[in-house]
Amino acid sequence: MDIPDLQRTFERELASIASEADLRALRDRYLARKGGVASNLLKDVASAGADERRTLGQAANQFKQHVEAAIASAQASLAAVSADRERRANAVDVTLPGRPPLAGHRHPLTLLRERVEAIFLRFGFLIVEGPELEDDYHNFEALNMPAEHPARDMQDTLYLAAPVPVPGARAATLLRTHTSGMQVRHMETHQPPVRLIAPGRVYRRDGLDLTHSPMFSQVEGLVVGEDVTLADLKGTLVAFARELFGAARGTRFRPSFFPYTEPSGELDITCAACGGRGCGMCKGTGWIEILGSGLVHPAVLENVGYDSERYTGFAFGVGIERLALLKWGVEDIRLFYENDLRFLEQFPL
Ligand code: DAH
Repeated sequence: MDIPDLQRTFERELASIASEADLRALRDRYLARKGGVASNLLKDVASAGADERRTLGQAANQFKQHVEAAIASAQASLAAVSADRERRANAVDVTLPGRPPLAGHRHPLTLLRERVEAIFLRFGFLIVEGPELEDDYHNFEALNMPAEHPARDMQDTLYLAAPVPVPGARAATLLRTHTSGMQVRHMETHQPPVRLIAPGRVYRRDGLDLTHSPMFSQVEGLVVGEDVTLADLKGTLVAFARELFGAARGTRFRPSFFPYTEPSGELDITCAACGGRGCGMCKGTGWIEILGSGLVHPAVLENVGYDSERYTGFAFGVGIERLALLKWGVEDIRLFYENDLRFLEQFPL
């Protein structure tokens, strides 16, 4: 094959190169020291007759230089193309709308607890916390519920398999069934006047259904001093209900019974679903219970060493989940524990 033919073939092959691998193959085919087209040509020159050798040698060298230069420049342009492609792929399109960063948010039950705390802080209350593992004395006995009291029934209380030491003397034998034990814990170590709330988790031997959960949260309240009366209890709790549910909702106190208060009463608000006319939600009464309360039983004050002739007080306990169901019209308590963001993100406060 003569050199012009070789050259045409090379140009054709070069033109059909699609990748760096193609180019490498082409280079090997033409420039490999052993068996490359250009090397073979130079070998032919050596074996040519003396008169041909000069012209043939020049042409072969030119061909080889041409192939080298053409491959080098093809290599450079392939590299430029792939650098360009990479630049485009990594380019930031500054005209695209930004994505707002996903900031987390607090759980609706936390938001509601904080709202309740904020209301009572403004009323001048202190916030205290205590252990969820509790002893029988603080959960029951000191609250005027002696050993045979039905509230201690195994149906209601989750007992520990073995007692666990906790701060505050006696070993814990149960998971607290209410936050009321915090009344006792605080009064044991503080003198009157007392004005506190104690938020926290409580536990009961209940299955999980529409309105029950084996774990839920309460806020306990306690005020003790000289001349604390039922009027203080009513004024405080009605003001609280108005703050949380709005002044448009009616309120009423209904007599009730708790062993640690005398008298005892429950606070109702008008049913949001029917506006007080009576419906399925309020069982036809037009009222919904929101908390239990009463004047602290003198026996409770005596149990912590307070002089019940000199001091009186009121106490209350409110369930956070219950408030949440009522405030937001949620019908299933389980939704608050299932961590479905589509539900949880609906509760700005
Ligand atoms: N401990 C009660 C419960 O778990 C709530 C309660 C009622 C707390 C009356 C009180 C109170 O302090 O005075 O249902």
